[in-house]
Amino acid sequence: MSEVERINAILAARTPALFACLSPLGKSLAFPKGIPFQANEAKATKLNGTIGQVTDGAGSPLPLPVLKGASGTLDAKMAFLYSPQSGHPEVRKLWLARQLALAGRTAGACTLPYATHGLTHSLSIVSELFTDPETTVVIPTPTWENYEFLFTARSGAKVATWPFFKGETFDLDALGATLDGITGKAVLVLNFPSNPTGWSPTPAEAAAIVKRVAAHPHPMVVIVDDAYQGVIHEEGRLDHSLFWMLSEAIDPARTLALKIDGATKELLFFSSRVGFITASFQDAEAEAAFTSKVDALVRATVGGPAGPSQAMMLAALRDHARTTAEFAALRGQLSQRWQALKDALAQVKSDKLQPFPFNSAYFALIGLAPGVDADVVRKRLITERSVGVIALPEVNAIRIAYCSTTAEDVAAIVRHLAEVVESA
Ligand SMILES: Cc1ncc(COP(=O)(O)O)c(C=O)c1O
Repeated sequence: MSEVERINAILAARTPALFACLSPLGKSLAFPKGIPFQANEAKATKLNGTIGQVTDGAGSPLPLPVLKGASGTLDAKMAFLYSPQSGHPEVRKLWLARQLALAGRTAGACTLPYATHGLTHSLSIVSELFTDPETTVVIPTPTWENYEFLFTARSGAKVATWPFFKGETFDLDALGATLDGITGKAVLVLNFPSNPTGWSPTPAEAAAIVKRVAAHPHPMVVIVDDAYQGVIHEEGRLDHSLFWMLSEAIDPARTLALKIDGATKELLFFSSRVGFITASFQDAEAEAAFTSKVDALVRATVGGPAGPSQAMMLAALRDHARTTAEFAALRGQLSQRWQALKDALAQVKSDKLQPFPFNSAYFALIGLAPGVDADVVRKRLITERSVGVIALPEVNAIRIAYCSTTAEDVAAIVRHLAEVVESA
């Protein structure tokens, strides 16, 4: 039996939904027994001549002083030597502990988070493992614009959409109707707080979403994209990941949940390029088999995870209380900008501006009246007002990222937008 056959047999027996959803590429992968594999097996040896990295002969790096100086207090081994293939064990363990703590839990039935090069990389790994022309990728309208591209460009998967909002809230009936139309394998993307809407459900709404998703009778991978986890500006909204509730509700024979998160927005470490993939099962053999497939993809693309940003993250993860307090302070600033945007929108008297509900994350979506073209408005804002916003033609709306402006400037953006829209 080949290694691929061996790990596929484990996944088929232990995680049937995962196995049923694998793409042909996903099915064909197993981590090759090459240099990283052999070096890992030899990592405790006294005389280690395995890996192509320069050390002092005793396992420590020999960084150029110019780089060592720039790296400050970072752990030199983490900053300068190759990272373990799936990420540094302590970073992975503390990331999981953080995720559980944010959800008010002490344990969860899941794998250890797998470290990647950011959330986009996590999503692209999932896309390669699970999408092919037989897969339907289910995303809302509007959605983060990268999803469709990322899940279909290389695989030729089909896309099915549902309208995110019905009036003032989430359109669960429409999601249900879209799922009802799918009988083959599917990948569903759930993203709360959402980009581009900046909306999050209440815990009761989240429970209803989970119930409907868990009832889907065909093989499905549910991606829980937690990029903006915890950035809530309104009382009574779900302030942690839906993944935990979902993991408990799904039948592993049909459904696999994958939590996608990372340092990017959650630690405001945008340049870090550290993301994670956590799967909704707890089974050491199946986890090793799944990891082998992810390791293989990573080995064949970006090689392995980045060390310096994992070393920086470790400092934050080791001091969870401080990190949480510092993040809360920054979220407070963001909430002020969110409030400034709400106030400014309440003040403008233009029926051509029709804001969608927004209560979380970094954004708000302002729908424009029929006949006012969002992209024309966007371009006029640049050329006539020196104001930058994003146009979403699929819902004829403008997305304002209030995260990157001051509270005063948020109000100015709304004023300019109202004036341009009124003269359109
Ligand atoms: C919903 C969502 N998911 C994923 C990402 C990608 O994150 P990263 O920058 O870590 O690749 C973004 C970035 O804007 C996002 O808005």
